[in-house]
Amino acid sequence: MGNVDEGPRHAERSVRAGWPGMRGKRVVVTGGSRGLGEGIVRLLLAEGARVATCARGKAGLAALDASLPGEERARLLTEDLDVTEPGRLEDFVTTAAKRFGTLDGVVACVGGSRGGGFEQADAADWAATWDLNVGHTVRLVRAALPYLRAAGGGSVVLISSISGWKPGRSAQYGAAKSAQIHLAASLARELGPDNIRVNAVSPGSMLIPGRRWDRLRREDPGAYDRFVGAELPGGRPVTPHEVARAVVFLLSDWASGVSGAHLPVDRAQNAPSPDGY
Ligand SMILES: NC(=O)c1ccc[n+]([C@@H]2O[C@H](COP(=O)([O-])OP(=O)(O)OC[C@H]3O[C@@H](n4cnc5c(N)ncnc54)[C@H](OP(=O)(O)O)[C@@H]3O)[C@@H](O)[C@H]2O)c1
Repeated sequence: MGNVDEGPRHAERSVRAGWPGMRGKRVVVTGGSRGLGEGIVRLLLAEGARVATCARGKAGLAALDASLPGEERARLLTEDLDVTEPGRLEDFVTTAAKRFGTLDGVVACVGGSRGGGFEQADAADWAATWDLNVGHTVRLVRAALPYLRAAGGGSVVLISSISGWKPGRSAQYGAAKSAQIHLAASLARELGPDNIRVNAVSPGSMLIPGRRWDRLRREDPGAYDRFVGAELPGGRPVTPHEVARAVVFLLSDWASGVSGAHLPVDRAQNAPSPDGY
């Protein structure tokens, strides 16, 4: 009888429970010195997590570090490295896990495209694009697995793109981003028995100061307005902070029931670029 009475009361308490935050969580984020990765790192630190992040440029990492309040800086570990350089990423994951005790989450955020359109991109561009997006993701997750298992489980978030499920130019990029979405669904099943959740997040075109869409907005406002009018029903691109909130949710205990999902954060964007489908 006791159990029967306790059930509904417990459920009610759980429903009313507040956001658990990320205090005590230990997370590795690749590519955290600017753009979306920086947004994720800042939000995780603000929510109380310990965070390790890497990028190729020392200056960007130093600027991030210097901009933080001392208490957050004490919870951040950075290292300058190229995620495509054999062994460097794996060593960084090990260093982070040893510093923090173990790991509760990883975010594969580095990504991008090499080469141009189909007839310009050669085999080396296809291989480099694959390695940057998919190869680094696979090596990151493999390196983190023993530590996620040691923590009793964890959360893996793969940053894909609207280009991974809506076709556009740079097929080598779309194919790699599409593979990340598939990878999340596959790994969710394979790692589920270890209590490791794996999800993919697909940002739409993000408005990042100094980057592609921000430059178009300043340099060719007419073309920018036509793009927004045709492809963005929400009337504006998403911001890195909006995407970071979805990523942090997936890393958190509030997402304990979410695995194998593909979460677009694109305000119902249509095509990924002004080129249309
Ligand atoms: N921007 C968009 O509109 C958009 C839309 C959809 C999806 N995405 C995806 O979202 C993710 C982040 O995009 P973003 O535009 O924010 O990225 P970004 O500005 O190009 O770079 C983000 C970070 O990655 C680091 N980085 C780049 N290449 C690296 C490498 N080989 N090794 C280590 N670090 C590296 C950069 O620092 P360093 O240069 O110093 O290495 C920087 O800290 C990517 O996976 C991208 O495909 C972006």
